[in-house]
Amino acid sequence: MVGLIDLVQKTLTTPHPLDRYLELVRPTMTLSAMRGEITHVRRSAVGSVTLTLRPNRQWAGHLAGQYVQVGVVINGVRHNRCYSPVNAQNRRDRHIELTIKAHPEGLVSNYLHENAIPGMVVDLAPATGVFHLPEVRPERVILLSGGSGITPVLSMLRTLANEGYPGEVLFLHYNRSPEWVPHRAELEALAMQHGNFRVELLYPELQQDPNFSYDELERLAPWFATAQTFLCGPGGLMKAVRTVYEAEQLTDRLHMEEFTLTAAPVDPADVTGEVSFSTSGVSAANTGVSLLEQAESAGLTPEYGCRMGICFSCTAVKRTGCTRNMRTGELDADPDQDIQLCISAPVGDVDIAI
Ligand SMILES: Cc1cc2nc3c(=O)[nH]c(=O)nc-3n(C[C@H](O)[C@H](O)[C@H](O)COP(=O)(O)OP(=O)(O)OC[C@H]3O[C@@H](n4cnc5c(N)ncnc54)[C@H](O)[C@@H]3O)c2cc1C
Ligand code: FES
Repeated sequence: MVGLIDLVQKTLTTPHPLDRYLELVRPTMTLSAMRGEITHVRRSAVGSVTLTLRPNRQWAGHLAGQYVQVGVVINGVRHNRCYSPVNAQNRRDRHIELTIKAHPEGLVSNYLHENAIPGMVVDLAPATGVFHLPEVRPERVILLSGGSGITPVLSMLRTLANEGYPGEVLFLHYNRSPEWVPHRAELEALAMQHGNFRVELLYPELQQDPNFSYDELERLAPWFATAQTFLCGPGGLMKAVRTVYEAEQLTDRLHMEEFTLTAAPVDPADVTGEVSFSTSGVSAANTGVSLLEQAESAGLTPEYGCRMGICFSCTAVKRTGCTRNMRTGELDADPDQDIQLCISAPVGDVDIAI
């Protein structure tokens, strides 16, 4: 069958691939491109929108906690962003549910928040990511989140609920106030239906980091040392939880996902030299931040997706100079190397081919 399709593509549909003709009939009717059609749009929580998508047959599902890249065309330009499906991994109808928080000044999240309607079609990539429930379910599970970080752990909770998971579960979520919590009514219903699920929604003072502590964890889940913990949320929460788990020597039981890059601090004395974006003929003094941000500050618009080193949309060739990987601290002084602009910072003079 694949051979026949290849033959048709090569002989009958030149110069365009078959998908170009099929998508004129229906945008999701493609042979290779993965797409999803929005079927429902809900704006039930303040600041976020929940989209239900009907994917085409290329979609192979996700493991609870993984993310998918979504491509959205805005003013003729396609932008990719990562979103973690909130639906259970074993959903029968194969539909994907995404809950997207409108990010202040964010392009794609605000666009979808304001403009998503049933019938809109988006591009999809296969689900990926190592942050997911293990195949052999742990005996006890703690799901910890803050703000938009609720999405991967909600998928885990729904998956465990569907499976009739018998172990103890603590679902602890921090947000501004009840009306900001997506899927709040369902969370409360799940806690009522499953005697082994404890759902705690906490609202620390606006703009303050959640006051997560050992005492709080001990109060809510005295069995926490025997659980596997899955954590996703803003930097302050991640740090507070990590500190408690480090002190208890439980980091091997803590699994984390961040939606934004937490870069190690840089010594201002190391911020020297000039950055050249030689293809565009633009250069500027090195400011020490990522090459993606320095390019944007110089008026360029390189492609990006995750802004944290996982999607590779921002890959460009470094012609000369030394860069530091902002996640690992590793230096790379070799010429003509592919680098990810979003997690690379210049160390002295650098020339990038964009
Ligand atoms: C694995 C993963 C899973 C995710 N899952 C979800 C999810 O389920 N739900 C969810 O809501 N979000 C999720 N996110 C976050 C999501 O991918 C997007 O980052 C988020 O929606 C913001 O995208 P945006 O286009 O609205 O914002 P962008 O326009 O990309 O802007 C985001 C931020 O980037 C910076 N920025 C953008 N442009 C510039 C510029 N020109 N100069 C300097 N800085 C700039 C700013 O700090 C800005 O506030 C996930 C992220 C990852 C990595
Ligand atoms: S934007 Fe995703 S790797 Fe750089």
